[in-house]
Amino acid sequence: KDLSIIGVPMDLGQSRRGVDMGPSAIRYAGVEETLEDLKYNLRDLGDVPISRPDNKREIQEGNLRNLKQVADGNQKLAEMVDKEINNNRFPLVLGGDHSIAIGSLAGISRHYENLGVIWYDAHGDLNSGETSPSGNIHGMPLAVSLGIGHEKLTNILGYSPKIKPENIVIVGARSLDPGEKELIQESGIKVYSMHEIDRMGMTSVMTETIDYLKERTDGVHLSLDLDGLDPEEAPGVGTPVIGGLSYRESHLAMEMLEESNLLTSAEFVEVNPILDDKNKTATMAVGLIGSLFGEKLK
Ligand code: ARG
Ligand code: MN
Ligand code: MN
Ligand code: MN
Repeated sequence: KDLSIIGVPMDLGQSRRGVDMGPSAIRYAGVEETLEDLKYNLRDLGDVPISRPDNKREIQEGNLRNLKQVADGNQKLAEMVDKEINNNRFPLVLGGDHSIAIGSLAGISRHYENLGVIWYDAHGDLNSGETSPSGNIHGMPLAVSLGIGHEKLTNILGYSPKIKPENIVIVGARSLDPGEKELIQESGIKVYSMHEIDRMGMTSVMTETIDYLKERTDGVHLSLDLDGLDPEEAPGVGTPVIGGLSYRESHLAMEMLEESNLLTSAEFVEVNPILDDKNKTATMAVGLIGSLFGEKLK
C-alpha cells in the first residue's frame, strides 16, 4: 500500500496550547520507522500551514472560536487529502485538535458515494455554535460533516453534507452534551458508549461495527481521538475523561480493523505533548498505528 502522512499543527479548535505540536510528537515517537518496517511505501508530506490567530483567541461570529483560521486550515488540508486519494495513496492525517476532521472528511468524502466513519472518541463532537458549551470547534467536526453548523465550515470544497448519519459509528463515548444527545436520538447515528463496551466487550463491538459498515459503505475513515483512551494511559490530551478505553481494547480494535481491510483513510488527533508524560500519548498513537497497519507478533 502507498501511504501519505499529512501533519496538521492545529490548536485553534480549542483553548489549550500545545496540541499544535502533536504531529512532531508523533513523528518523534517513530511513526515513519514503524510504517517503513511494515514495508509500506511511505511519503511524509510535512505539515499543512496553519495561520496564527489575530491576537486574542477570540470567539468569532456565532460562538465559534478562531472560525476564520480553522476554516482556512481545513480548506488546505481538504485539498491535500483529496490530491493524495487521486494519486491512489492512503491518507494518514496526524493532528492537531479534532477540528481537522472537518478538512479530512471534506477531502475524502467526495471520492465515495457512502463514506463510513468510525469515530473513536470520549466525545461525540456533534455540537454546533448553538449547542456548544465552549465555542471550541474541535467539539463540532462530526456535526459540521453532517451539514450542521457555520457555512464557512460545512461548505469546504463546495459540497455538503459530507457524510450521512447512518454511516457513522461512535466508539468509546462517555461525555456527551445535551444537544449532542438530542442529535444522536433524532439522526440514527450508531453509538457504542463505554456502557455497551463494558457489557459486550470490544470484540463484539468491533465485529458489529465492521459488519454494519461493510454492508452499507464503500469506504471507511477512522477518526481516532486519543482521549477515547483512558487518561491514565493517554494523559497528553486537552479534554481527558475518566473511565476510557484501555491499551488492550484499543489495540484489539485496530487489529480487527486491519484484518477487515475496510479502512480507506485514518487520522489520529488531540495528542498534546505539553500535557503529556514523556511523550506517552504520542507513543501510544504510534503503537496503535502499528497495529492498524499490520504489526503482529507472528
Ligand atoms: N463537548 C465539549 C465541547 O463541545 C468537548 C469536546 C471535546 N472534543 C474533542 N475533540 N476533544 O466543547
Ligand atoms: Mn526513514
Ligand atoms: Mn474527544
Ligand atoms: Mn474528538
